[in-house]
Amino acid sequence: MKTSINGISINYRDQGRGIPVILIHAFPMNQTMWDDQVLALAPICRVITMDLRGFGASDIPLGPYWMALMASDVRGVMARLGIERAVLVGLSMGGYVAMSFYRNFPDSVSGLVLADTRAAGDNPEGRERRFASASKAEREGVESILDEMVQVLLSQTAISTRPDVVNRVRQIALQNHPEGLAAAQRGMAARPDSTDLLTRTDCPALVIVGADDRLSPPEEARRWQERMPNSRLAIIHGAGHLSNIEQPDLFNQALANFISTL
Ligand code: MLT
Repeated sequence: MKTSINGISINYRDQGRGIPVILIHAFPMNQTMWDDQVLALAPICRVITMDLRGFGASDIPLGPYWMALMASDVRGVMARLGIERAVLVGLSMGGYVAMSFYRNFPDSVSGLVLADTRAAGDNPEGRERRFASASKAEREGVESILDEMVQVLLSQTAISTRPDVVNRVRQIALQNHPEGLAAAQRGMAARPDSTDLLTRTDCPALVIVGADDRLSPPEEARRWQERMPNSRLAIIHGAGHLSNIEQPDLFNQALANFISTL
């Protein structure tokens, strides 16, 4: 379904009934990366997914897409659906958006799930890498940055033994346009450090991380999770960065357990 939020068209799905749970996707994906989660969760809660601005079937306005801007799009979708408070589930870039949402609208968050994401901002080299990747995508297309991305998005095991998973990730990424990906990279480069913010959260929180996540490794996730009040850590074995795609059953179980405690 489409709705107009902040002057652009946003594509979203809204399924199931009960406590609202909003799933926010990673880079360079779109809302279809959550298909397994929607199937598993719709019988127990109200699941909402959306294509962030610049991704999937949502509009691609000029960037950069600051995390706060994408958070305000999420808030717009909530308002349109008459939802005052929701559980936010963000994976990687979706986690950055969820942290920004919490910074700006803490009273609208009933639970926070941060999966395969990082509390810290980028260092100068990380920012440079993003700017280079943004320009490359604009010059040479999405395909040109994909091989390198897949290497860090998935575990080595998946890369060498699960062509279906590799293909699915590539196909989702290829549905995006270079302009949207570049604008999101530039927005992520500017995101603030959220480490202190996370020590002050007052809603229940769950941190999920793939045991083989090389982009946001478990040791790093544990360091900031331990400083988050009222939080738990779930390590997903046999998964890299896109833990919801590599091990949907384990990921869904962790999510369902958390939701059942709210
Ligand atoms: C993601 O999976 O959303 C991105 O890899 C996050 C990032 O580039 O920091």
